[in-house]
Amino acid sequence: VNRILLPSTDLVCSVVGLGTWGLGGSNEIDGTSLGWPQAKTPHRIVETALQLGINFFDCSDFYGQGKSETLLGEVLNGVPNIIVTTKVGLLPRFRPGTRDLERDFSAAHIERALADSLLRLRRDKVDLLYLHGPGNDVLERRQTWRMLQQLKDAGLVRHIGVSLGRSESVGAALDRWLAMPLVSVVQLEYSLRFPSRARDVDLVDRHDKAIIARSVLNHGLLIRDPRAPRTIEECDHRRHKWKEESRGPLVSFVDAYKNTGASKRSKLEGAVRYVIDSANIAAAVVGVSTPDQLKSVVAACGAPPMSLDERAVIHGIAATAFRGD
Ligand SMILES: NC(=O)c1ccc[n+]([C@@H]2O[C@H](COP(=O)([O-])OP(=O)(O)OC[C@H]3O[C@@H](n4cnc5c(N)ncnc54)[C@H](OP(=O)(O)O)[C@@H]3O)[C@@H](O)[C@H]2O)c1
Repeated sequence: VNRILLPSTDLVCSVVGLGTWGLGGSNEIDGTSLGWPQAKTPHRIVETALQLGINFFDCSDFYGQGKSETLLGEVLNGVPNIIVTTKVGLLPRFRPGTRDLERDFSAAHIERALADSLLRLRRDKVDLLYLHGPGNDVLERRQTWRMLQQLKDAGLVRHIGVSLGRSESVGAALDRWLAMPLVSVVQLEYSLRFPSRARDVDLVDRHDKAIIARSVLNHGLLIRDPRAPRTIEECDHRRHKWKEESRGPLVSFVDAYKNTGASKRSKLEGAVRYVIDSANIAAAVVGVSTPDQLKSVVAACGAPPMSLDERAVIHGIAATAFRGD
């Protein structure tokens, strides 16, 4: 896997990183799962990533409520030249009377949560600490930024990032996050599933910061056969997104992708290259449920780059199929 220097950092990372949300299994909160079916071989997936040359690992204290960090701590302990990132601020409980997760970006919480993450990760520092899904109000919270600077000064964190939700990762809001002096890296959802948002990211001024793409396979739904009958397990957060009524646009996309002959690439290769060949995207983090899936993703990274013409055609197909999203 190719490596790149992440803009505005000293981190040299593989262009594809291993996302570990799914490796923490089901994340049960008040009877709702915000996780994934338990992967059969999570340790082997992380080992396979290392064997394939992936040195970039994306984590959060939220994933499996600490389980994903513990897994990385077990497998990566003592491995040199790897980049371990985690996130802070998203809490495993809902705001009273809602299905919105609580968030805490107070200085006290960040300091305490990072200490717990370091214990689970078995590290004395993280390479990149993201705020996990901050609202735009956090841009103004001076105590949050003072604490992040303090953690950097203390050597507990090498770089600061923000992992943004949908409304924060477009237009003027995205521009404000990218312009924050302490923020080196912005992570956001970027995929063929949401082509208009991808276009928005393509046009933003990066301020020489690194933008990392996530959910590039739309949690795998872009790759599955949308016509195949399949029930999704109770513990799988995707079951709402896989309802009958939401399959129509996926069917249109798959048919147009195949029938127009616009691309000789598999859907997986097309989805991965659409993201990593974007001029504004530095790297992508991808989730997998088996080692073989990871091998296919890495193979897609080794495929020929997507030309601007091919990209325009595939983008057009996605924009038609997913119009309105
Ligand atoms: N707010 C945030 O900060 C945030 C939010 C979301 C994600 N993330 C990060 O981004 C990472 C990746 O995002 P994601 O997990 O949402 O979605 P993703 O990478 O778009 O999709 C992952 C799913 O795609 C399927 N897949 C992967 N490789 C495949 C292959 N070769 N062939 C067929 N299917 C394949 C698998 O589905 P099956 O399980 O069905 O096999 C896998 O679980 C997460 O692990 C996490 O680290 C961060």
